[in-house]
Amino acid sequence: MTKVNMKVNISGVELKNPVMTASGTFGSGIEYGEFVDLNRLGAVVVKGIANTSWKGNASPRVAETFGGMLNSVGLQNPGVDEFIQKDIPFLRKYDTKIIVNIAGKTVEEYCEVVKKLATADIDLLELNISCPNVKEGGVSFGTDAKMVEYVTKQVKRVSKQPLIVKLTPNVTDIVEIAKGAEAGGADGLSLINTLLGMAIDIHKRKPVLANVVGGLSGPAIKPVAIRMVYQVAKAVGLPIIGMGGIMTGEDAIEFIQAGATGVAVGTANFINPTATMDVLEGIGKYMNQYGVEKISDIRGIIA
Ligand code: SIN
Repeated sequence: MTKVNMKVNISGVELKNPVMTASGTFGSGIEYGEFVDLNRLGAVVVKGIANTSWKGNASPRVAETFGGMLNSVGLQNPGVDEFIQKDIPFLRKYDTKIIVNIAGKTVEEYCEVVKKLATADIDLLELNISCPNVKEGGVSFGTDAKMVEYVTKQVKRVSKQPLIVKLTPNVTDIVEIAKGAEAGGADGLSLINTLLGMAIDIHKRKPVLANVVGGLSGPAIKPVAIRMVYQVAKAVGLPIIGMGGIMTGEDAIEFIQAGATGVAVGTANFINPTATMDVLEGIGKYMNQYGVEKISDIRGIIA
């Protein structure tokens, strides 16, 4: 295989390739270290981190569905202090970028986490205003363009690293929401988070998830994600991290042609711990097959 140039620039940070992990599907990479050479990843996007530790929702909180899965984890996390102490030193041993997903119940809580990370050795922040599984914070901030602009502005004021805003697909007009984040000063966008869904155990006559509803991810949502990345890329001038059902290199290429600069692999990690490496190799294979020298040559090429 000929060597191809996969370098991408996300909000001023150069990544060796566009492949990263989707928040919440890879922890901080510690459990995956024996399957995946973290040095080969463009970035690790860690699980949402809040100002204090959160227990998350009651079980069952994950369920397999046709072409994907539902989760209602509820942003379980150890809190920012433990994350700074344990996870950052672990990740820093590797030649990969660190993107920290920020969780909070209030704007103040988001700001508290971001302030604590100001002096931490991380590369980018990803503001989670799209988790559908928490009663406060998460998606409650992400469905109104004015609110998205406000939260982004407040967090941006105190952030030292570039700020990516992660968008929910559970809206009528994703472009309006993306423009809200842009107006608030976002440096980049990631989309899509999960689609709100539900499954019923007909034998027990009960919802499958203890939380009743949860976020649907996996290949089942990929066409929705591609459509949203395409629409947002055409309307907003910010770099986009695209995600939603990426299982293969071809899937990743589809997102890039729709306009994504980076691609995040999520649900695939649960069924194939080396999915990120397979996606990376698949992108290289495609580039070789079609003589694409630089990944940027095919970004957003769909009219
Ligand atoms: C969760 O922890 O509930 C999922 C994370 C997310 O949807 O952002």
